[in-house]
Amino acid sequence: MEKLVINGGTRLKGEVTISGAKNAAVAILPATLLLNGVYTISNVPNISDVKITCDILQDLGAKINWITPNELTIDTRDIDGKEAPLDKTSKFRASYYLIGSMLGRSGQIEVGLPGGCNLGARPIDQHIKGFELLGAKVDVGQGKISAKAKKLVGTSIYLDVVSVGATINIMLASVLAEGTTTIDNAAKEPHIVDVANFLNTMGADIRGAGTDVIKINGVKELKHEGSYSVVPDQIEAGTFMLAAIATKGDILIKNCISEHLDCITAKILEIGGDVEDFGDSIRVSINKRPTKANIKTLPYPGFPTDMQPQMGVVLSIADGVSVINESIWESRFQYTNELINMGAHITAQGKTAVFEGVKELYGAPVYASDLRAGAALLIAGILAKGTTELYNIDHIDRGYEKIEEKFRSLGANITRVTEE
Ligand code: UD1
Repeated sequence: MEKLVINGGTRLKGEVTISGAKNAAVAILPATLLLNGVYTISNVPNISDVKITCDILQDLGAKINWITPNELTIDTRDIDGKEAPLDKTSKFRASYYLIGSMLGRSGQIEVGLPGGCNLGARPIDQHIKGFELLGAKVDVGQGKISAKAKKLVGTSIYLDVVSVGATINIMLASVLAEGTTTIDNAAKEPHIVDVANFLNTMGADIRGAGTDVIKINGVKELKHEGSYSVVPDQIEAGTFMLAAIATKGDILIKNCISEHLDCITAKILEIGGDVEDFGDSIRVSINKRPTKANIKTLPYPGFPTDMQPQMGVVLSIADGVSVINESIWESRFQYTNELINMGAHITAQGKTAVFEGVKELYGAPVYASDLRAGAALLIAGILAKGTTELYNIDHIDRGYEKIEEKFRSLGANITRVTEE
């Protein structure tokens, strides 16, 4: 078992370079199943969710060659599998993208029920509704999902909830369908636009990604080869922005798209931080204690739920009483118990948490309940007085590349320790 040992009390200072977006990469890689050819994908984050995606694609018959730690070629000419390994697919959330992609490619697939972070109920009814409206027969049971379609035919699909996963999955299934598919009430996250851009680079005809109505005009086939670079990770950039604020630091965050960070920038300015926008890099600093703020998580362009725990750390040491309302995931306040162990004053009940800001946090043994909770506790450990031992760090490795190296380069004192 590995843990991170953090000797805290550091003000983070320096430069950090953001990796490619996890949530785009875990959709773009399965999207290559829609073609019969070789694609080069760069700016791929080297994280465990990407490694497991690659593993599953290889099990289905793809040939993957890593050219550098962040660039690979994927050859999908010999895909013959109809069953994705249930043990691997049930381990992580984005395995559901295999359904949309394989329905498009061969009209048949079976995957394990998607796992991933434990954030409460994570239904996929909107994905299934979309596949069925396109003409697929979907069966869910015994820990797996089977989907089959003789032919997919474009149609209008209204999403009852704004879902990132359902929007991307329906796009994937519609690319090679007959006729036009319209997704109404679509999600607008930057990685949706990135997946649509990738599919269009491969020859798809998708319009409107980034708005709440997306039209996909089905095409007969995709091009056989090309290359694509994954968009920078909005959430990783946001994590370093809030790390700068939480530690009263000064960080230049490179390789990011500042427009994707507007919702975080607005909150940082509200609580007294400074943000300098250089377009593809952003400098975040603060030289005083941040002030209170109220946060409500919402689909993009609202404040991202995946930034909520990191903001929770900032508010736990802010001046005044802050309230966070979590509107996307019901179990996203598990990290608050760990912050309480570090000296924070937080009351969390249901979808609301009240943060009565304290001046300092103190190092303690803490456990990451999920990916973003892990990132938040890492930041808490860096700002806290004394030593923090952070456990369950496999959650963090799922979504952050070289996390401790990046924080160490900003001055943090972090060691990865392997325990029996
Ligand atoms: C994606 C992200 C995750 C992020 C989330 C919200 C990936 C791999 N993961 O997850 O990091 O926290 O977006 O920004 O991209 N819902 C339904 N029915 C469905 C689908 C979703 O009711 O069929 C609900 C969910 O319970 C949740 C909300 O819709 O309350 C948003 O979920 P969704 O956007 O689908 O999240 P994911 O795509 O799973």
